[in-house]
Amino acid sequence: MSKDSWTWKAKDGALGGLLYEPGNWGDALKASWLATLLRWVADRSSGGFSGYLDPFAGAPTYPLGAQTAKRFEALRSDTLAFLHTPFIEQGLWPSAATIFRELSSSPMTVYDADRERREAWRGSPGVAIAEAASGWNALESAVGDENRLTLVDPYDILAEWRGLAESALFRPGLGTTLIYVYNRSAKSAEQFREYRAFRAFLDDTTGVRYLAGRVGCDPFLPNSHHEMILLPGRTIESGRDFEQIADRLEAATLELDAAMGRMAVFWR
Ligand SMILES: C[S@@+](CC[C@H](N)C(=O)[O-])C[C@H]1O[C@@H](n2cnc3c(N)ncnc32)[C@H](O)[C@@H]1O
Repeated sequence: MSKDSWTWKAKDGALGGLLYEPGNWGDALKASWLATLLRWVADRSSGGFSGYLDPFAGAPTYPLGAQTAKRFEALRSDTLAFLHTPFIEQGLWPSAATIFRELSSSPMTVYDADRERREAWRGSPGVAIAEAASGWNALESAVGDENRLTLVDPYDILAEWRGLAESALFRPGLGTTLIYVYNRSAKSAEQFREYRAFRAFLDDTTGVRYLAGRVGCDPFLPNSHHEMILLPGRTIESGRDFEQIADRLEAATLELDAAMGRMAVFWR
């Protein structure tokens, strides 16, 4: 490996107060799913999302480490190419809510427990900050809107979902819901059991047909996985809509996985 090849764990960025590095593989998967979903909605004639709710929104952007930026370029992702000029070139990684704003003009409501990150949204056109005690509380108190897009992206949903599942997470009225899951099943039997319980809850209790996709946390030696789950609301009708978006999200996930695979199996 040449000395200036990308490294599989880019730990070179300022974390902007987050517990992980902005622009990691989970962020790439999340951005890829969000962009794919918003483009699909924009391409069709029957209308997009009425709004966006992101109760764990973080800040609008984060500083991007040089190695992470390099790794992003090495990905050569068509889906994520739109991030290059406004963000990557400027040394920034956009949060999911900023990506939504890039690709949609629908109104947004954000919240974050971290005051500094939350206040960074103040004054952004088209963005309201939820009056809430926590992100979960913002979900519980959101006015029902089946045509909205909701992103649920706390640090560790598998540690928090029990007790919140019916009151907040799978509450009717959140609309189409994207959930980020940090899956540590590979690390212990206990984590695997909790992950299986979460998926079983989705399968047996919600009764909703959903989509799930994942990439490893690292192309070379993954010991955990980043996953996205999409629960369709009214904007995505069952049948043709569901199959179309499933095909596109599958292709976007495979694109990312193939790029990661390419980086992990051959060096020149
Ligand atoms: C994984 S980051 C998500 C960042 C954001 N969605 C993005 O795309 O950049 C998790 C965020 O959730 C916030 N958070 C954690 N627990 C929270 C809670 N109970 N209520 C609201 N925000 C919370 C953290 O401050 C952090 O900014």
